[in-house]
Amino acid sequence: MQQARDIVATEFEAVNQLIIDHLHSRIPLVGSIGHYIVDAGGKRLRPLLALLCGGLNGKINDQHIAFAASIEFIHTATLLHDDVVDISSLRRGRPTANAEWGNAPSVLVGDFLYTRAFQLLVSLGKQKVMELMANTTNIIAEGEVLQLTKAGDPSTSEADYFDVIKSKTAVLFAAACAGSGELAGLDENSIDKLYDYGLNLGIAFQLIDDALDYEGDPATMGKNVGDDLAEGKPTLPLIHVMKHGSKAQQALVSSAIKEKNNADIDAIFSAIQQTKALDYTKQLAIKHQQLATAAISSFADSPYKETLLRLAELSVNRQS
Ligand code: IPE
Ligand code: IPE
Ligand code: MG
Ligand code: MG
Repeated sequence: MQQARDIVATEFEAVNQLIIDHLHSRIPLVGSIGHYIVDAGGKRLRPLLALLCGGLNGKINDQHIAFAASIEFIHTATLLHDDVVDISSLRRGRPTANAEWGNAPSVLVGDFLYTRAFQLLVSLGKQKVMELMANTTNIIAEGEVLQLTKAGDPSTSEADYFDVIKSKTAVLFAAACAGSGELAGLDENSIDKLYDYGLNLGIAFQLIDDALDYEGDPATMGKNVGDDLAEGKPTLPLIHVMKHGSKAQQALVSSAIKEKNNADIDAIFSAIQQTKALDYTKQLAIKHQQLATAAISSFADSPYKETLLRLAELSVNRQS
């Protein structure tokens, strides 16, 4: 990841500075929570993709930098909201904002970051980009609500699951890439290719996130494992057990999902291992990595393209 940042080091630094500059508010609590989550870091993968897609198509300009910052603001807002909804206690190696300040400040500062992102986007003066981001954030909100309606439902299908992860996660990656193409003045066909790259990378990214929720290391990830089971989230590893596990394993998973209870996590983890549910999840992530790679095959070779391909690979082969 560091190597990927190095090729856009100056611009990446400018994005980080812009993010800090735009955290300002006359209300001290906004700045406190904003800095708390932003200063904790995070991979900054989405703004990195936005910059690289700018570089892929000519020079990275100030608009790409502002756009990349707005994408990270939107992402950060969704994290503040998501940790409230998921009742999560650890994020980026620190107690979550909801654990430190409570739910109400987290939701409201999340709203602040969401709207700050749109202030930044408006300053670009690009109607097409505004349209893209208005639609994208609307789909993300729907995705989180869809997920909520599926929590506790053991009959959730693989198709439902893909609908959730595309909406809540992948469309933001897609927009980060396509919006940059738009700002570079690309034709529609090329913008669609960048969108497709980002969408498939994002699907792969969330598939691995859902695998890591069962086998990851909290110290490396900076967030807890087992949260998905505790929330009764029917993610792909569990859907796989519901389909291929023994009757007893299906009953075990079904009741854990229904009751939103992770007390049986050890037995469920054994069922996950026996049915090779994480291997299956990773295979699908690799399939989407390959689709991402194929989507940008027609762009001219360059260090930017190489890095984008490398990031698709890293989205699958990651521990954090
Ligand atoms: C976390 O995203 C939310 C998901 C879509 C899984 P990241 O893993 O990119 O979070 P940070 O920004 O690096 O903390
Ligand atoms: C992340 O979903 C999606 C958004 C933040 C919109 P998760 O709930 O799986 O992400 P983590 O695991 O909390 O980072
Ligand atoms: Mg979560
Ligand atoms: Mg997760």
